[in-house]
Amino acid sequence: MIDGALPYLRCPNCGQELRRQEQALRCPRGHSFDMARQGYADLSAGRLPHVGDTAEMVADREAFLAAGHYDFIADALADRTPEGFVVDAGVGTGFYLARALDKLADSGLGLDVSKPALRRAARAHPRAAAILADLWGPLPIVDAAASTVLNVFAPRNGAEFRRILRPGGVLLVVTPAAGHLRELIAAHGMIGVDPDKEAKVRNALDGHFAAVDRTELTRALRLTPDEAGTLIGMTPSARHGATAPTEEVTVTASVQLSVYKPI
Ligand SMILES: C[S@@+](CC[C@H](N)C(=O)[O-])C[C@H]1O[C@@H](n2cnc3c(N)ncnc32)[C@H](O)[C@@H]1O
Repeated sequence: MIDGALPYLRCPNCGQELRRQEQALRCPRGHSFDMARQGYADLSAGRLPHVGDTAEMVADREAFLAAGHYDFIADALADRTPEGFVVDAGVGTGFYLARALDKLADSGLGLDVSKPALRRAARAHPRAAAILADLWGPLPIVDAAASTVLNVFAPRNGAEFRRILRPGGVLLVVTPAAGHLRELIAAHGMIGVDPDKEAKVRNALDGHFAAVDRTELTRALRLTPDEAGTLIGMTPSARHGATAPTEEVTVTASVQLSVYKPI
């Protein structure tokens, strides 16, 4: 539902407030933005450098997450999410946003460039809204709107995340740790974890945020060949020749959950 997020949205062209008029969002200056039939609003203002995850990747992501394999990540995020408006930057199917909202009384908003992802995110939770917007550009969200910004395996825009967070708000970032999915990387051609990941995250957030907590979360996942196939399929690896195992496999899922405060 877009209504809960409306007070926090701003026109991507002029920065003014947005109101809903039938199947569009409009600002007082007359800029108008369509709402898709599937419930998300397009606030990209035509600034879309790429299309994000494909329909196939999103379908695999939905199937893999629904099987519960990453519930431990969702639970850890939800436990660290305070009351208040939640923005999920790079929301995907809305899985993590929905799990956080389950524990809160407030609304949430997911941002993504992938239309197949947004179709799911828009109906992931009764209090979740979904917006088509590029994380690398200015976000169509008012200053100091969010108590929490979630960012799970998605691009980070330190300056904008800082601007949209309330004073005292929290940025929760999940990134792959060194051994993440190592069995599928070694034997099945999956793309490995970027060794510069930590430095890249630091570069994106330095000057805007200070890390106040870091937790490594690790689980051994027992996966059927189909499940391993969906795990590979939800990443770019499938397009780079990675192949699913033909038998059950144990896979290490290892991520870093970092808690940041604005500085
Ligand atoms: C690896 S997926 C993670 C999705 C979700 N956070 C999850 O973990 O299930 C990365 C997501 O970021 C989105 N994305 C990539 N680049 C983006 C950009 N510049 N702006 C907005 N979303 C972007 C993709 O479309 C995709 O849904």
